[in-house]
Amino acid sequence: MKIGSLDIGTKLLVAPMADISDSAFRKISKKHGAGLTFTQMVSAEGVIKNNFDTLRLFSFSRDEKPIGVQLLGKDPVIIGEAVSELTKNKPDLIDLNCGCPMEKVTSKGMGASLSDKPQLLAEIVKSMVNASAGIPISVKLRLGNDHSNINILNSVKIVEDNGASLVIVHARTSVDSYKTDSQWQWLKKVKKEVSIPLVGNGSCFYPEDAKNLMDHTNCDSVMVARGALGNPFYFSRFNSIMEQGFDPGMPHIDTVIDTIIEHVDLLAKEFGEISSFEKAKKHTVWYLKNYPGISVLLDTIFKVKTVAELKELIMQHGSDIKLNKLEQENIFEINSKFKNKVLFWLSA
Ligand SMILES: Cc1cc2nc3c(=O)[nH]c(=O)nc-3n(C[C@H](O)[C@H](O)[C@H](O)COP(=O)(O)O)c2cc1C
Repeated sequence: MKIGSLDIGTKLLVAPMADISDSAFRKISKKHGAGLTFTQMVSAEGVIKNNFDTLRLFSFSRDEKPIGVQLLGKDPVIIGEAVSELTKNKPDLIDLNCGCPMEKVTSKGMGASLSDKPQLLAEIVKSMVNASAGIPISVKLRLGNDHSNINILNSVKIVEDNGASLVIVHARTSVDSYKTDSQWQWLKKVKKEVSIPLVGNGSCFYPEDAKNLMDHTNCDSVMVARGALGNPFYFSRFNSIMEQGFDPGMPHIDTVIDTIIEHVDLLAKEFGEISSFEKAKKHTVWYLKNYPGISVLLDTIFKVKTVAELKELIMQHGSDIKLNKLEQENIFEINSKFKNKVLFWLSA
């Protein structure tokens, strides 16, 4: 798929995810074959004010490229200024968040609420394109506000007509929780509406899901969010399906354990040992959720006190898995909890 001058071939995009799409996550995703990574959403206002926390969220190193930065905002002038500021960092894509359904975002007129304001959406996209110095602009949208107000076919036309190079559609409405299935049939209709590349998103948990989505909808690529949590192998498996025609399946547990350790080390390097600790535990649980002994891991992981202890636990747990010392739990149950709430171990 080509986005302006960027060609990611048949590779996938890893989604912007608040509190997850940090440099460590992006580097691991890229290493295992993601074609394009994203920062999490950053406030356009924060960008132009040089807000310290915002600067940190959209900073990236050159070896992370290709990368997209996602902006959240509602004022065409401020968003335009933010885009102009961002061009100095040379991201490969700048995206507008038109999909975040959280009350604290939509009540301020940002995120998903923008898709109900076609005139404003047009002005924002135009302002972004004008300020982008040739960096491609994309927009990430949902189908509409609710099932009786699906306006995606109109929204994508606005996005295309105002100069965006790519549109990403999460095939749910704003009121849908993760319990509602994604409605891929809308992606097929959207594809007929626009000539810029279309990236489909929603409920692709396995590499073959991404392939199915593309086959059924003609989307040019797929963006993966929850399926990539604790599973960067998603991308290499998908690439193998596309390039060699088969899915090699999950790698050996040793590779999984090595990848978790690498991820934990990258987090510690990025945030420091103390601040990275909670994130590292969260990712570890995701990586190991489908392996035997997840309940044992959940009992023990919250008792460890340092990154060194965490790494020791991960290695011990990996060797217990290899030695068949742990019981396999109900994967179906764990996965349905995870789909509904990514921090599944905290859900009732
Ligand atoms: C923890 C979490 C954080 C997210 N943060 C963002 C975000 O910052 N920006 C955004 O556009 N979407 C965000 N999303 C939505 C995802 O990008 C994606 O659209 C959605 O999860 C559907 O994809 P999936 O079915 O592959 O998970 C987030 C999703 C999750 C699970």
